[in-house]
Amino acid sequence: MLENVNFLLKDVNDFSPKSKKDVEVFRLKYLGKKGVLNSLFSSFKEIPNSEKKEFGKAINMLKQKVQDKIHQFKDCFNITDSIEEVDRTRPVGLSQLGSRSPISLIKNEIVTIFSKIGFTLSEGPEIEDDWHNFSALNLPKEHPARDMQDTFFVQTDPDFLLRTHTSSVQVRYMNDSSPPIRILSPGRVYRNESISARAHCIFHQIEGLFINQSVSFADLKQTLLYFAKELFGEKTKIRLRPSYFPFTEPSAEVDVYLGLKSESDHKITKGTGWLEIMGCGMVDPAVLENCNIDSKKYSGYAFGLGIERIAMIKYGVSDLRLFFENDIRFLKQFSSL
Ligand code: PHE
Repeated sequence: MLENVNFLLKDVNDFSPKSKKDVEVFRLKYLGKKGVLNSLFSSFKEIPNSEKKEFGKAINMLKQKVQDKIHQFKDCFNITDSIEEVDRTRPVGLSQLGSRSPISLIKNEIVTIFSKIGFTLSEGPEIEDDWHNFSALNLPKEHPARDMQDTFFVQTDPDFLLRTHTSSVQVRYMNDSSPPIRILSPGRVYRNESISARAHCIFHQIEGLFINQSVSFADLKQTLLYFAKELFGEKTKIRLRPSYFPFTEPSAEVDVYLGLKSESDHKITKGTGWLEIMGCGMVDPAVLENCNIDSKKYSGYAFGLGIERIAMIKYGVSDLRLFFENDIRFLKQFSSL
C-alpha cells in the first residue's frame, strides 16, 4: 500500500500540465468524489495498526502535494487559457470613424474658393484687446455702433474681450505688413446674444480683406459674384443693398437669390427669394491710417460672413443650435461629404 502511495507521489511531482484542462483532469483524478485520495482515505481502516501512522502521513503528504500543484498551475493557466480561447484570426470590428463637422466642411469650401483667386489664411487670438476689436476699426469707446455687437468682456480697464468678429485679425495683419494684402480670416467669434434657432453666443465667421492700389467697389462686387457662383452654382444671382458698418464706407449687405421653389425657401427668405449672407464695403480710410497704411495711396475692400448661416442654407438645417450640440446622429449625416 505504502509503495502505491509513493508511486502516486512521484506521479504528482512529475505532473506538468499544458493547459487549464490538464489541471482540471488532475484535480478530478486526485480530489474528485471518486478520486484517488478519497479511496485511499477509505482504505485506511484496512491498514494494519502498525502501519497506520506511516500510511496516514504519506496520504496527507500526497493530498498536500496535489493541492500545491493545483494552486501552482491554476493561476498561470487562467491567463494563457483565456488567450487560447480567443480566435485570433477573427476580423476586428471597425471602430467608428468620426466625421468633419459641417462647419469645417463649409469653412474649407469657402477657403478653397477664395484661395483660387489668391487669398491666403490669417488667424488671430479669440481673446482680444479693445483696440484690435473696436477702436482701430473706427469704433472708439462710447460709439453707439458698439451696441451692434453685444460683447463678453473678460477684463475691464484695460479692456480684454472675446472677439465679436474676425475683423480684429485683419487689424493685426494690416499692422504687421504692407500692401498688397489679400487675406481670409476664419474663426470662432462671440456675442452676448440669447440662444435661439437663428442666433447663438458662439458662431464662426470668415472675413476677407484686399488692399492694393486703386481697388474699387467694382472689384468687390465681382469677387463676391464669383464667390456666390462657386458656392451656390453658376446661375446664382446676388444683389448689394446699402448698409452701415463703422469700418467700411460705403458699406453694403449681400443677398443671394435662392428662389421660391420650396416651402423652406419661402420661410427663410420671407417670401422674397433673397437671403442676406454677408456684410461688405470699402475699408474706411481712417481704418487704414489706424493701421499705418497710407490711405492716399491704397484702398481696399472687406467682407464678412457667418459660416453657420451658409451651412444652414446649403444643408437645409433649420436650427442653428444643432451645430453645437455634438449629437452624433446629426453629425454622422455629414460623414460622406
Ligand atoms: N465684421 C462685420 C460683422 O461681424 C462684418 C463685415 C466685415 C462687414 C467686413 C463689412 C466688412 O458684422
